[in-house]
Amino acid sequence: LHVAVLMGGWSNERPVSLMSGNGVADALESRGHKVTRIDMGRDIAQRLAEAAPDVVFNALHGTPGEDGTVQGMMDLMGLTYTHSGLTASVIAIDKELTKQALVPHGIPMPGGRIVKSEDIFVRDPLPRPYVLKPVNEGSSVGVAIVTVEGNYGNPIGRETVGPWQAFDHLLAEPYIRGRELTTAVLGDSALLVTELRPKSGFYDFDAKYTDGMTDHICPADIPEEIAQACKDIALKAHRLLGCRGTSRSDFRWDDEQGIDGLFLLEVNTQPGMTPLSLVPEQARALGMDYATLVEAIVAEALE
Ligand code: DAL
Ligand code: MG
Repeated sequence: LHVAVLMGGWSNERPVSLMSGNGVADALESRGHKVTRIDMGRDIAQRLAEAAPDVVFNALHGTPGEDGTVQGMMDLMGLTYTHSGLTASVIAIDKELTKQALVPHGIPMPGGRIVKSEDIFVRDPLPRPYVLKPVNEGSSVGVAIVTVEGNYGNPIGRETVGPWQAFDHLLAEPYIRGRELTTAVLGDSALLVTELRPKSGFYDFDAKYTDGMTDHICPADIPEEIAQACKDIALKAHRLLGCRGTSRSDFRWDDEQGIDGLFLLEVNTQPGMTPLSLVPEQARALGMDYATLVEAIVAEALE
């Protein structure tokens, strides 16, 4: 096959996408496929038209490669591409829209509300502790946990500058104590549950992409009831949003509350494919190596 691997772009997750994309491209080449690596710029449509691949592997993260924009363009061009299409991407990139789509179907997600960033300087939007996050970023870019006394990473003193200030609006959610879990969906099944134990206490950008900063326990050492619930919710969310190929659902679980303490945070339609990423890790734990996973995602797009 001739596969164009789309990567890079200009989102805050550009470096992550380059790692994902080059990993995918290397794996496809190792399996004998012809690969065109495309670092996405404004001339993307022209370059895809020139490459005329059999299929596009979308390894972009963040806007505009994960939010439906690139998907809509590829639909117009009649290209076959991996991962979710336009509608699922538009909804899933937005954590607030995702709640509106999933909570009415009984999927447990934290409450919270959208606040103007400048108002955070006037008063706390929720009782502490709470989390502030941009609605449409990934890899924990711009996320702050506001604890009772200051927070991790971005002290929120009234005059303090934090990365979250780059966003006009933020989603404020109650902080859920306890544990960080994630479940991948591949094709029509949920894979496993991984628990992330960041050594710093906060699974932020550095903890996600620096080897050794987070212990990954896969499969997680949690009660079967919780593991099954994560898999059921991940698969149900994937289907309700109309995701395709693969997605990854991230959870918080307050282990003092049993099943009532489990909350879906978000669905990632373009989950990371870097060497430390979680979908490849769960596939590997089930006996599927990285290159086989990449080929499976491509095969799903061609179905
Ligand atoms: N946003 C990153 C790439 C992930 O979900 O894995
Ligand atoms: Mg995400």
